[in-house]
Formats: sequence, structure tokens, C-alpha cells
Amino acid sequence: MRLTFLGNGTMAEAMISRLLKSGYEIEVFGRDEKKLSIFRDKFDKKIEVFTYKNDTDISGKTVILCVKPHALDKVSPFLEGEARLIISVLAGTSIETLKQKIKAKNHIRAMPNIAATYGKSMTTITGDKASKDEAVKILNSIGKALWVESEKELDIATILAGSAPAFLALVAESLMDGAVKEGLKRDDAFTLIKGLFEGFAELLEKYSHPAFIKDAVMSPGGVTAKGYAALEKHKVRSAFMETFKK
Ligand SMILES: NC(=O)c1ccc[n+]([C@@H]2O[C@H](COP(=O)([O-])OP(=O)(O)OC[C@H]3O[C@@H](n4cnc5c(N)ncnc54)[C@H](OP(=O)(O)O)[C@@H]3O)[C@@H](O)[C@H]2O)c1
Repeated sequence: MRLTFLGNGTMAEAMISRLLKSGYEIEVFGRDEKKLSIFRDKFDKKIEVFTYKNDTDISGKTVILCVKPHALDKVSPFLEGEARLIISVLAGTSIETLKQKIKAKNHIRAMPNIAATYGKSMTTITGDKASKDEAVKILNSIGKALWVESEKELDIATILAGSAPAFLALVAESLMDGAVKEGLKRDDAFTLIKGLFEGFAELLEKYSHPAFIKDAVMSPGGVTAKGYAALEKHKVRSAFMETFKK
């Protein structure tokens, strides 16, 4: 199956690298011929690249919209015809807006994250139900896709799946700094933190609730209990909950 990307930035690159592995054919439209040529070379010329023309025909195509949100108004006037399906990854751009700007039988909003590069994006999706199965299949190629029933849920999930890597980076860095402060070499702290995050993903799969992981490692009067109490004292839990506030 052929997918048409509009946009040749970071997210397009991350998604295309996995979609090619899943056997999709890819064509990419962008505005800068030089950048497009460099982009094509990143994939050993396995993709086709084109610049937008005034009558860029998207009739019957499955289009992945991957430009900056503000660029929607710049790109949409180039497009002619009605796509089969539009999957937009544009943050904060509603399905209603997409429907006004780009004609398609079905419109889907998806929120991937940059872990798509490694096939590990947790992607939330919503939109026209008729294309649910197809959109889930395409986005499962870049990790795991989760369908939600409304755009409100997608916006909340965006913070969890899209912004939380930045929050977890702060957690990783802080834990490393704590260990370095006590005298561990930074390289060793980094090695340990990478192993911790890798193992932790498996623990989350195994346990039915994160609190059970805490219970499993916290022994009475032990160092974990003391550390945990320090996190609660400094309101780390409520700080994380506030990251969802608009
Ligand atoms: N990066 C993430 O982690 C992430 C996560 C979830 C969703 N997203 C969404 O993915 C989309 C792309 O983000 P990105 O990180 O890939 O950004 P990016 O690397 O900056 O790429 C942006 C793309 O938009 C194009 N563009 C920008 N202004 C344009 C204009 N005026 N006319 C036509 N094209 C224009 C750029 O073209 P040029 O290369 O020619 O400038 C480029 O192809 C955004 O809508 C973002 O909300 C990103």
C-alpha cells in the first residue's frame, strides 16, 4: 500500500523509517527541493519525493499530514481532489479544522511520539470510525496504537504520550544527579538509568498497577521507603498531576 506524506521533518522521518520496514510504499511532498533530496537519501532512495505544485492531486490517496500546525494553511491550497483518508499528526489541530482545509472521505487525528524511530511510539488516535481499523494498522507499524473516543481524550493522551518523554527525561536526569552527588561516576549512573528504564517497561507490563511495583521494592524502614517519603514530602506526585493542567 502507498502512503503520501505531506512534510519531511523529524516526525515524518521517524514514521517513514518504520513504515518502510512494514512494507508500505512512500511518497513525500515538501516545499524545499534540496531538503527533499537529502531526505530521500536517508532512506537509500526507497521513497519518492516531490515539491508541492498548484494542483497536487490527492484523490484516492492515504495521506499522512506531517507539517507544522501553522503550515496547514500554507499547504492545503496546493491540494486538489478528495483523499481516501487523511491521518494528521498536527498537535492541537481539530478534526473540524482538518475537514475544512483538506477534502477526504475520512479524517483521523493521531498523536505519535518520537520513539516512532525505534518502532516504540505509543500513538493515540481518534476520528472517523470507518477508518479506525486501517489507521490502527498503519500506526501499529510505528509502535502501539490506541483508539480513543474523543478529541478531548486525545488531547489529554497527547500530554501523557507526547510530552511525558520530556518529563521522564527530567526524572532520569534527576536520579542520575542524585547518584553523582553521592559519588557515583556519571557514566556509570547513565548506564544504570538506561537499564532501569528498560527493565521498568517490563515491570509495568507484568504488574496490574504501578503501586504494586512500589510495594514490591519498599521494605519496612528501608532506603526505598525513606526515598519515597522524600518524594511525597516534596509533592512530586502533585507536580506530575499538574502537568496536565491547561
Ligand atoms: N516531533 C515530535 O515529537 C512530534 C510529536 C507529535 C506530533 N508532532 C507533530 O508533527 C508535525 C511535524 O513536526 P516535526 O517535529 O516533524 O517538525 P519539523 O521537523 O520542524 O518538520 C516540520 C515540517 O513542516 C514543514 N513546514 C514548516 N513550515 C511550513 C510552511 N510554511 N509551508 C510548508 N511546509 C512547512 C517543514 O518543511 P521544511 O523542512 O521545508 O521547513 C517540515 O517538513 C507537527 O505538526 C507536530 O505537531 C511532532
